[in-house]
Amino acid sequence: MALDNSKQIDFNAPGLRLFLDSAEPREWERFLPLGVFYGVTTNPLLLQRAGQACTLKNMATLSGQAAKLVFRELQMQVWGDTSDEMCESGRQLAQLAAPGMEVVIKVPATEDGYQVARRLAQSGARITMTAVYTPGQVLLAAGFGAAYAAPYLGRMLDAGQPGRDIVLAMHEILKTTGGASRLLVASLRQAAQVVDLAQLGLDTFTFGAAVAAELFTSDLTDQAAAQFQAAALDMGGQK
Ligand code: E4P
Repeated sequence: MALDNSKQIDFNAPGLRLFLDSAEPREWERFLPLGVFYGVTTNPLLLQRAGQACTLKNMATLSGQAAKLVFRELQMQVWGDTSDEMCESGRQLAQLAAPGMEVVIKVPATEDGYQVARRLAQSGARITMTAVYTPGQVLLAAGFGAAYAAPYLGRMLDAGQPGRDIVLAMHEILKTTGGASRLLVASLRQAAQVVDLAQLGLDTFTFGAAVAAELFTSDLTDQAAAQFQAAALDMGGQK
């Protein structure tokens, strides 16, 4: 389906943003046409899980495939052994934006990562600081105007940390300091985690196909839909 490229994107517009956390084009093709996802997030681990090469050539192929689908923002992550290499991969990835599809560059929230992020931001890229574990890292991301800071909730819980409280503290920081950076909650493992945080005012989430499928599934809705169709047929609805 073609995108409507006529509208300017307002990056500061409030409201919900759901991202599909996947580098698997079959998952993009399943979920993006449903129209609920603002964007797609990828990283080298997700590329590895999807059997996709982490090369600029393949990222160009993948972003070309993605650009044909319905969503607004593709997030791709830098790689490299040095800050210069990370900057270079980030600059090349930023050029993969297409009409109707913005690109956001993800950078791990290490000390080096902040330097890379600043350099990329100076060249005009929008940035997600990723693999964020502490409220202080969120403060730093907001400090240079990152578009997003992405805490890894599931991994915090795996590490025995009070992930929900930490994520809520991060949310509070961004709310009270009033910048434009968004908290993009990542490493979500269950639909209930998304719903729980949304009830508390968080509005930006990235989750994989399993959580997306969980959110779309209700046996009672399926039963009701089947009853509606049976009644429609009973009352003259054409097959
Ligand atoms: C990033 O957006 C992902 O959520 C990240 O890969 C962590 O996910 P995982 O904890 O499921 O590996």
